[in-house]
Amino acid sequence: IADIQSHIDHELVSREQIETLIEKTARQISHDYAGKDLLMLAVLKGAVNTLAALSQEISIPAQMEFMSLSSYGSGTQSSGVIRVRKDLDCSVRGRHILIVEDIIDSGRTLRWLVDELKGRGAASVEVFSLLDKVSRREVQVDVKYPGYVIPDEFVVGFGLDYDEQYRNLDSIAVLKPQEYEHEDQGEQS
Ligand code: PRP
Ligand code: MN
Ligand code: MG
Repeated sequence: IADIQSHIDHELVSREQIETLIEKTARQISHDYAGKDLLMLAVLKGAVNTLAALSQEISIPAQMEFMSLSSYGSGTQSSGVIRVRKDLDCSVRGRHILIVEDIIDSGRTLRWLVDELKGRGAASVEVFSLLDKVSRREVQVDVKYPGYVIPDEFVVGFGLDYDEQYRNLDSIAVLKPQEYEHEDQGEQS
């Protein structure tokens, strides 16, 4: 298997741009949640890198929790159905939750999660997403901490996958067309 860089067509967001946005956002979050009991909730698997980077820049005490949700199968199209692969193992009642996501596409994952957390009695629910494909939105979501708006291209890296690969790339990039050729939209990963 060739080096990961040889699979990339072009870079959309550099590692430096990611770091800059995350540092700025972490400062704002640390300010906004000072004196509150912050619970950062990463939506696995995509948000793993974003949470890891963000959490190290947060200067107030904070709890890290995880939930694994899937709306995409192995292809490049969202199924629209949210599957809970791993649920939270703590109560969120009365907690101030910051959802950490890698990307907002249709908005269905976040819409479902925000409603679910409020239904479980969270005191507040806000969202940080590193990337936002605004042009693809199907359902409305309020995003307190916005990330980079990107065009409607299928991107990988910094947690984002294509068929479970490329999450380990350190920037956000578009793959060469031939890498998407074995797409099978019917299969769920
Ligand atoms: C991706 C991404 C977001 C969601 C965004 O997750 O990480 O969680 O889709 O799409 P939406 O706005 O249309 O709901 P995916 O389902 O691919 O799971 P993964 O994070 O494990 O890759
Ligand atoms: Mn995800
Ligand atoms: Mg995915």
